[in-house]
Amino acid sequence: MDRIRIEGGRRLQGEIPISGAKNAALPLMIASLLSDETLTLRNLPRLADVSLLSRILGNHGVDMAVDGKRPGQNGIQGDTVHYTARTIVDTTAPYEFVSRMRASFWVLGPLLGRCGEAKVSLPGGCAIGTRPVDLHLMGLEALGAEIELEDGYVVARAPNGLIGGRIDFPKVTVGATHNVLMAAVLARGETVIENAAQEPEVRDVADCLVKMGAQIDGIGTSTLTIQGVDRLHGATHCVLPDRIETGTYAMAVAMAGGEVELVGAKTDLLEAAVEVMGEAGVDITATNRGIKVARNGAKIGAVQVSTAPFPGFPTDLQAQLMALMTMADGTSEITETIFENRFMHVQELARLGADIALDGDKATITGVGALKGAQVMATDLRASVSLVIAGLAAEGETVINRVYHLDRGFERIERKLGDCGAEIERISS
Ligand code: EPZ
Repeated sequence: MDRIRIEGGRRLQGEIPISGAKNAALPLMIASLLSDETLTLRNLPRLADVSLLSRILGNHGVDMAVDGKRPGQNGIQGDTVHYTARTIVDTTAPYEFVSRMRASFWVLGPLLGRCGEAKVSLPGGCAIGTRPVDLHLMGLEALGAEIELEDGYVVARAPNGLIGGRIDFPKVTVGATHNVLMAAVLARGETVIENAAQEPEVRDVADCLVKMGAQIDGIGTSTLTIQGVDRLHGATHCVLPDRIETGTYAMAVAMAGGEVELVGAKTDLLEAAVEVMGEAGVDITATNRGIKVARNGAKIGAVQVSTAPFPGFPTDLQAQLMALMTMADGTSEITETIFENRFMHVQELARLGADIALDGDKATITGVGALKGAQVMATDLRASVSLVIAGLAAEGETVINRVYHLDRGFERIERKLGDCGAEIERISS
C-alpha cells in the first residue's frame, strides 16, 4: 500500500489549481442514468471514487467516452467525459460496489424514476458513523415507491411510475436530497422537498438537471419544487470547483506559512470557513483567478466552531481545522454536529504531539506551538488529509500510511503541494 512521506517545515509559495468537486461529480455522473441521451461533464476530477463510480455506471449500461477515447484505452479519468445511458441493462447495484462507495447508493432514485424498479445494496456503516438511509427511503416512498428490504438490499418498485409528493426532511441530508431530487424529475406531477440540503453540490446537480430539461424551482434554497417531465435530454455541464479541496489547501498554507493562490477557487462556496480562518488570523483575499491565502509569521488564533449544514462550517473541513488549531495560540473548541464518530484523526494528531481532549461531540484543542513528525494512519479521507497538512508543519519526518483514502478525494495531492515547495513524496509499495 502506498505511503506519503513529508519532511515538515517548508513554507508554501506559488499556486495550486483547484479541481472539480468530488461531491458534485459523483451525483452528476449518476444523473446520466436519467436520460437516453449523452450527458457531457467537464472539469471532472481524477479520483479513485470517480473511476469506481464509472465502473458501477458501466454495470448499469452507461457508455462512457473520455475525450473521444474508450474506457480501457487510457483509464476512465479525464477532464471531459461523455456518459450515455441509452439503455439501462441492469437495475441492480451490487454489494461489492455500494459497500466501497456510499454515494453509489444514490443510483436508487434515478433508476427507479427511469425504469420503475431498482435493487440497490444497503451501504452499511462506515468509519465516520452509522450513516443510515432511512430518509432516502422515506423520500422515495413519498413519491409512491414500494420499498422492501431483502437480504441486505433495498428493493424498490414503482410499476406505474413515480408520482409527485411532499417530503419534509426531519434533518438536512445531502444524499437523500440528491436521491429524491433525481427521482422526482421524472415523476408525474409536482414534488416539494422541504428542508432540502442547500450545499453548493446539490445546487450544481439541480442546475445540470435543468439543462437536461428538468423543471426545478427554488434551487439553492431549502425548498425545492419539481414539476415532473416525461423525459430528460442530453446536456453539457461543468463541475463546480471543490470547496473542500480549497479549504484544505488554505489550511495547509495557514499551517506551513507562506503565500499561495488557489486558482479556480471561489470564496462564495466557503464563506463560513473563510470567516473562521480570518478569525484565526489567516489572510484570505479573492483574486481574479481564485483565492490568495497567506500567513507570514503571524500567530494562529484559537477559534470556537461547530460544524453545520451549508452555509455553516462544513464537517468535511473539521479534521483539517483541528490540525490547524493544534498550533494555535490558546485553546480552541470544535463541535461535530453532523456525524457521531468523526474524530479518528484525534488519536493520530496526538502521535504528532497535539493536545486534544474529547468529550462526546466536542473536541478541546490546546495549542502546542509545534508538532513533531511521526508515523500515522487514518481511516477516512478528510482525517487522512488533516494528517498531511499537519505533517507539512511538523518538525522532521511524517509518514502517512493507507494513502488510498487520499486518492479517493484529492487529485495529485503530493504534486500540488510539492509544486509549492513542500517536501513530500509518495512511496509506492
Ligand atoms: C455527503 O454525505 C457527503 N458525501 C459527505 O462527504 C459529507 O460529509 C456529508 O454529505 C455532509 O455534508 C458526498 O457528497 C459523496 P448526509 P451524505 O446524508 O450524503 C444522517 C467526504 O468526505 N442521515 O448529509 O452521506 C447522517 O447519518 C464525505 O467527502 C440519516 O440519519 O451525508 C448524518 O448524520 C464524507 N438518515 C446526517 O444525516 C439518512 O437517510 C447528514 O448526512 C441520511 C442521512
